[in-house]
Parts: sequence; C-alpha cells; structure tokens
Amino acid sequence: MSIESGAELQRDQAGRLRHLLTLEGLTRDELQHLLDLAQFYVRVPGELPARDQSLWGRTVANLFFEPSTRTRVSFELAAKRLGADVVNLDMQSSSRVKGETVLDTIYTLQAMLVDVFVMRDAEPGLPAYVSAHVAPHVSVLNAGEAHLSHPTQGLLDVLTIRQRKGEVRNLSVAIVGDIRHSRVARSTSRALLTLGVGELRLVSPASLAPEPGELEGARRHHSLAEGVAGADVVMALRIQRERMADADTVDPETFYREWGVTAENLRGARPDAIVMHPGPMNRGVEITSEVADGAQSAIRQQVTNGVAVRMAVLATIVRNVQERNVEAGRRAG
Ligand code: NCD
Repeated sequence: MSIESGAELQRDQAGRLRHLLTLEGLTRDELQHLLDLAQFYVRVPGELPARDQSLWGRTVANLFFEPSTRTRVSFELAAKRLGADVVNLDMQSSSRVKGETVLDTIYTLQAMLVDVFVMRDAEPGLPAYVSAHVAPHVSVLNAGEAHLSHPTQGLLDVLTIRQRKGEVRNLSVAIVGDIRHSRVARSTSRALLTLGVGELRLVSPASLAPEPGELEGARRHHSLAEGVAGADVVMALRIQRERMADADTVDPETFYREWGVTAENLRGARPDAIVMHPGPMNRGVEITSEVADGAQSAIRQQVTNGVAVRMAVLATIVRNVQERNVEAGRRAG
C-alpha cells in the first residue's frame, strides 16, 4: 500500500469512488469533476447557501477522534444542505474511552441506518480499516488521518487557487512551515501535482521537511526568501506539536523569525500572490495578522469553499453508491 493509505480500497468493483480515503490515485479528470461540482455549490457570504436533495433520506455520522472546528462543521452543513440527517459523535470522550472498539461503534451506527461515516483520527489507517468492514452501501470519508492525508482540504485548497489564480498549470505554489507533520501539505500537494502544477515548492527547515522520497515532483527549499521568490501562492502551515515526539525543539519565536509569513517577506512573492492557511492559525508564529487579514489573504475563501467541496464529495459518493445499488439489483432480479 502506498504511504497515503487507501488508494486501492476506495473504489467499488466498477472503479467508481465509493469512499474518499485519499487523493492518491484520483485522475486529473476525477479531480476536475469534483472541483467543477464544488464550484457549482459555491455561494459567497451574503447569498443564500446552495441546497438540493442529493442526500435526501440519507444519514451522515461525523466521528471525530481529534479536535476540529472548520472541517466538522463544514461536513455537517454540507450534508444538511443536501437534505441528509446528520449525527455528530464526540469520539474524544466516548467509545474508545469506554472500551468499545471503533468497529462496534460503526456497526451500532450502521444498524441505525447510517449511510456515510466522516472520520478524523490521529493514528494512520482507521478510515481504510473501517471502509473494509462496512456494508456495501456504506461509505467512509476521511476528514483528516494522522499526518498522512486530508483529501477534502486538498480539494478546497486547489479550488481556492483555481478561483483566484486560474489554471494551476501556470502557477508556482509555495507551501511553508511544518510540512513533515502536515496531512494538509500532503493532500494539497498530491492534488496540485496530479493537476500538473507549474511548480510546487515545499519550504521548511530541514527538520520539518517531508521524509526523503515523499512527494516526488515538488522542490524542497530550506530558505523562506528563496522558497517564496516569485510565487503565485504562499500557503502557511502551523507547527503541529501534537504529532511531534520532541515538540519542545521548535521554539515559536525562532520559528517566527525564520519561517513566519510576514508582509515583508511576502514582498518577494509576486505582487498579486495570494496567501492561504488551512487553520487553525497561530498568529505571530507562522503568519502575522497583517498578512492573514490583508488584501492578499484567501483564508476566508478557503473556509467558504470547504462547504462546497464537501457537498460535491458527498453528492458524488452517494450517487456512485446508488448506481452500484441499481446494478446489483438488476443482476439479482
Ligand atoms: C488542519 C488539520 O486538521 O489537518 N486543519 C483543518 O482541517 N482545517 C490543519 C491543522 O490542524 O494544522
């Protein structure tokens, strides 16, 4: 199995996407289709949200074993705006603590006719494991898996870039900060590379660079000035201490001085460059407030796009499962 687990497991026998475990293995066309559908669902603040009944009668369960605000709420809103029932389980305080295995929880919810599980976990492998055990009409969506993969974040980042800067083929994108521990960096990079990004730069201290051999096609930089020079997009990432064994070795003030995205070092990028951040932000560490709230910031737009992308993924997965059910019914009858 590839490092981003699940690429082989997320399709049904006919090759349709049944789960979304990783962006690894998705074709350029599949990515474009999801992005186009997401664009169809985008509404900006001040407009009424897009709504339809693609998930009418379905039930979506959010199972988050790690904290989340944006991702969990946006999956919930996305499912509701498509007409689904949604249940949110606070997994940080429930099943594992009581000793019930995750699979028992899944089977319990499946017995209550849950159709889609949205899962986030600090350990690698849980979404793929669950996807291998659920009933054939049930789907699993990865909402963040350890440091490995966060597919809907990758999609919303690329959608934001496409809206603001056009085709990624013509762009130079710099991802700056703690890349080693970032599932966002991995999924966003995967999407950009599949879509043929002009240039992808992973900009970090050597200690926070990805493992050797990861993300081939990206160029690594160990100087911020060099890494952002002439870039069209600069994406800042926070230091992910919760995934570090020796968290104390990164001092926030030193990090800010050397790697913080400030108005001053942003001047090295293109004058029309945009700045992104997946959140949560540590203002004054990896990014200054001046930049985060400034004219070049696309950070709020990323959040808006998060709902649209999750609507597109939910609608696509549920339609694919429906198609599979129709075929299975035809064969049986
Ligand atoms: C990210 C995550 O959880 O991976 N947040 C998010 O989903 N928007 C990034 C992070 O935690 O730093």
